[in-house]
Amino acid sequence: MRVGRALWRTLCRVCGIVGYVGEQPALDVVLEGLRRLEYRGYDSAGVALVADGALASAKAAGKLANLEKVLSGDPMPAATTGLGHTRWATHGPPTDRNAHPHLDRAGQVALIHNGIIENFAVLRRELEAAGVTLVSDTDTEVAAHLLAAEVAAGAELADALRRVCRRLDGAFTLVAVHAGSPDRVVAARRNSPLVVGLGDGENFVASDVAAFIAHTRDALEVGDGQVVEITPDSVTLTDFEGDPVEEKRYHVDWDISAAQKDGYDFFMLKEIAEQPKAVADTLLGRVDEAGNLTLDEMRLSDDELRDIDKIIIIAAGTSYYAGLVAKYAIEHWTRIPCEVELASEFRYRDPIVGRRTLVVVISQSGETMDTLMALRHAREQGARVLAICNTNGATIPRESDAVLYTRAGIEVAVASTKAFLTQIVACYLVALYLGQIRGTKWGDEIAAVLRDLSAMPPKIAEVLRAMDPVRELARSLASTTSVLFLGRHVGYPVALEGALKLKEIAYMHAEGFAAGELKHGPIALVEQDVPVFVVVPSPRGRSVLHDKIVSNIQEVRARGARTIVIAEEGDEAVVPYADHIVRVPQCPTLLQPLLAVVPLQVFACEMAAARGFDVDQPRNLAKSVTVE
Ligand code: G6P
Repeated sequence: MRVGRALWRTLCRVCGIVGYVGEQPALDVVLEGLRRLEYRGYDSAGVALVADGALASAKAAGKLANLEKVLSGDPMPAATTGLGHTRWATHGPPTDRNAHPHLDRAGQVALIHNGIIENFAVLRRELEAAGVTLVSDTDTEVAAHLLAAEVAAGAELADALRRVCRRLDGAFTLVAVHAGSPDRVVAARRNSPLVVGLGDGENFVASDVAAFIAHTRDALEVGDGQVVEITPDSVTLTDFEGDPVEEKRYHVDWDISAAQKDGYDFFMLKEIAEQPKAVADTLLGRVDEAGNLTLDEMRLSDDELRDIDKIIIIAAGTSYYAGLVAKYAIEHWTRIPCEVELASEFRYRDPIVGRRTLVVVISQSGETMDTLMALRHAREQGARVLAICNTNGATIPRESDAVLYTRAGIEVAVASTKAFLTQIVACYLVALYLGQIRGTKWGDEIAAVLRDLSAMPPKIAEVLRAMDPVRELARSLASTTSVLFLGRHVGYPVALEGALKLKEIAYMHAEGFAAGELKHGPIALVEQDVPVFVVVPSPRGRSVLHDKIVSNIQEVRARGARTIVIAEEGDEAVVPYADHIVRVPQCPTLLQPLLAVVPLQVFACEMAAARGFDVDQPRNLAKSVTVE
């Protein structure tokens, strides 16, 4: 069966990319780098080395272990220049033949790629007309042949790559080596991640710093539309025209252990446990000596921000749910109307955006293509864009007018957890910042919210310490087919996120609803013993909301549901209607999502493990989705 292009597109993920030149055995460095990128998800792998004026390459469908088996049967020659790739199928199924690297006919060039070359069909026809036989179904292979042709015509390798890049439409990271250049790796990027690792007598290129932090923590950004050439002792950065560009070096503060599981069974569990620290770190040093809130990068004046008359939050997946939570606080604290929009929908509905619109884009990775495209559309319409991002120097923050970095640290598990909490915190900081400069919040009110926020990390830790019954409950429900989640106010997006987590990793039918909507349809789903989580707001201060949700619990219970109620300490009103109670410490309602979501994350994680699934790398999903 032929899989349509649209489907392949939705399947495309960030491939793992590593290139090395130096003194160490390149194969070892490259394989180790690929292993560190495994968390991204992939379905085939390959390597190429430059040895004695010739290329050697090997590739295999499946996990890296398959490639290693191939290599042990047919060892590669010693080499100190090489590249490696883990692929997620885009054009053509995940087979040995379609795995990267791709070589030209003469075996002079080896090339790896992430992204999609949109005009590949035209280029393929052109190559075929010129007598080139293409051996794979990929879009990548055309770039390998084009590159080889440029070199054969006399261009030096980096220049040849620049010429090829100028001919390509779409998004790509390309890395290539040439048989005649033993000490040289070239790479290019457009709308797809690429970083350089700067070593001593060795250099690296990779799709992610995790690939080389075992060797160096000094890195160099490669900007959009740039080509980089590395040798053991030099790094040369230009744009696609060959003009030199300014270098931006930075130091990576993650250590290698941060990219490993620290003794937890799964990255997801480790990341759930890291949430108190992630929230505390995100709050760190946000207030200057004068008591004013500060953001990380601000290329907007206070006057411009005072002029804002509408906020649109744009994001995907879990980040979108963080945005839905944030809307409540933003409108409450700033009195600016706030819409929240799925990134993939935004630019296709002719949104009303102008100079007075502040678009807040939220992205853990900073590379999500839907979000990036929405950002660009918003900027074209004149909007100011503020990014909330967990990845320093990623494309989304680079293209925004202002940035607030969440400091969750590297998030490896595909299902996002600690990023979600820090995104909410970051949005709240933005809301307070706007409140501060627009005068809708007094200084002492802002200080009080900041105090409440800084009290959250120990409260999250308290929730984490009490998770054993939740794990037990998950195990006891492992054969359930469907779980529902209800919430009101900020508890509603928490319910949506709880359901998403369960779908993502436990492959279970799960749905989140606004509890008030129950009677308008979803209640028909409630049958005997169906588990229903209910996120209950504090009875203090918002008693109407609380009373309403207590009625909702009664409604589902009367129809046979097994109710699992998340309620704050001291809330006794829910006790008669709860089959299970999960207690969270008291806090202001707007901050409750930071606590209430934690049991839902733990429940999903335990459920996935109990059902025997790969918690960190769920099927069909990947951490960062860099195509629309
Ligand atoms: C993917 C991931 C989700 C994530 C979403 C948005 O779908 O699997 O976990 O929430 O992308 O990612 P971002 O990096 O933009 O926050």
